[in-house]
Amino acid sequence: MTQSLHPMLNIAVKAARQAGSIINRAALDLEAVKVGSKGPNDFVSEVDQAAERAIIEVLLEAYPQHGILAEESGREHGTKHSEFVWIIDPLDGTTNFLHGFPVYAVSIALAHRGQVQQAVVYDPTRNDLFIASRGRGAYLNDRRLRVSKRTRLHDALIGTGFPFRRGDNFKRYMKMFEEVMQNCAGLRRPGAAALDLCYVAAGWYDGFFETGLNPWDMAAGSLMITEAGGLVGNFTGESDFLYQREIVAGNPRVYGQLVQMLAPYSRALKPLEGGEGSASTEGGEKAVPADATESFLAAQATSTDAAAPAAAPAAPARKAPVRIRREGAAAAAPNPEAGPAPAGGDDSAPF
Ligand code: IPD
Ligand code: CA
Ligand code: CA
Repeated sequence: MTQSLHPMLNIAVKAARQAGSIINRAALDLEAVKVGSKGPNDFVSEVDQAAERAIIEVLLEAYPQHGILAEESGREHGTKHSEFVWIIDPLDGTTNFLHGFPVYAVSIALAHRGQVQQAVVYDPTRNDLFIASRGRGAYLNDRRLRVSKRTRLHDALIGTGFPFRRGDNFKRYMKMFEEVMQNCAGLRRPGAAALDLCYVAAGWYDGFFETGLNPWDMAAGSLMITEAGGLVGNFTGESDFLYQREIVAGNPRVYGQLVQMLAPYSRALKPLEGGEGSASTEGGEKAVPADATESFLAAQATSTDAAAPAAAPAAPARKAPVRIRREGAAAAAPNPEAGPAPAGGDDSAPF
C-alpha cells in the first residue's frame, strides 16, 4: 500500500500484530495452553483472553473515549455510548489453533455509528495482514485486493462454516449444503470466518455463506469484501446482516446466485421497532431490539434456540423475497473504486 494508513487503522494494525505475537508464542507449546469451555465444542483459551487484553490496551491507550465490543469481555471495557466501537475477535479459529491447524486470525474492526470504517485481519501463521479503510480499498500486505471475476455459481469455489454448537440447526444447514454443493465447483470449510471473508476479498473464493456468526466474526472481513468490489448481506440480500447471524458474500454475480438459493432458508434476526427485548415473530424469524450495537449482548442471551419459535416448520420455512439491491439499504455495497465489475439437528433451532 503506497498511501499512508488512516491513523485509526494504524493503531488497529499495531494491536493486531501484538495479539499475533502472543498467539505465535503460545503456538510453540500448545500443550501448555490452558483451555476452558463456553459450551459444547466452543472453547476459549488463556491465549484468546491474553490476546484480547493486549488489543484493548493498545486501542484504548490511543482512543480512551471509544467503545469496545469484544468476544471474550463483551462491553466491559471502553466508553459505553461512544459513536466509535471497536469490534474485536482476538483469535478467530480457536479450535484450529488448539489443534495446531494453521488457519486462525486476529480480527479488529472499527464501526462509526454502526458502519464499519476500518478493518484488520491478521493471520499470524503466515504473517499476512489484510487491511481495509472505507472508500480506500482493501489490501493483503502491499497488494490491492479484488474479488474474483467468475460469473457462474457452477464454476465457483465457495467457502462456508458448519454449525457445531448445541442448538444449531443442522438439518437446515444440511439442506443448504446439499443445494450449494450440487451447484458449485467446490465447497471449503477451513474454520476461521474472518479469514474466509478475506479469501472472498482476495478472489480465492467466489462466495461464502454461514449461519450463527457473531459481529466480531464478520465485521472486519465484510469491509474487506466491499472494498474489494464484492457484496455482503443476509440470506435475503439485505445489508444489515452484522447482528443477524447469517451472512452471504461473494463477487456480485456469485453473490446474486447464492442469495437466490439461500433466501428461503433465511432466519435473519430482525430489529424490533419497540426495542423491548427479544421476541419471536410469526414467520419463524427472531427479533432483536432496534439498537443492535447497544443491545446485542442482551439479545444474545435469548438468541439461542430458547428464543426460537417452538414449532418452526422444517426448512425452507418460507419463501423470503429475494432482494438484491446495489445501493442504500441493499447488501453492503462494493467500493466503486475497487475495479471493474465482473463481466457478467433440530429443525426448530435458529441457526
Ligand atoms: C469461529 C470461527 C468458525 C465459525 C464459528 C466461529 P471462534 O470463531 O470463525 O469458522 O464457524 O462459528 O465461532 O469461536 O474460533 O472465534
Ligand atoms: Ca470467531
Ligand atoms: Ca474468537
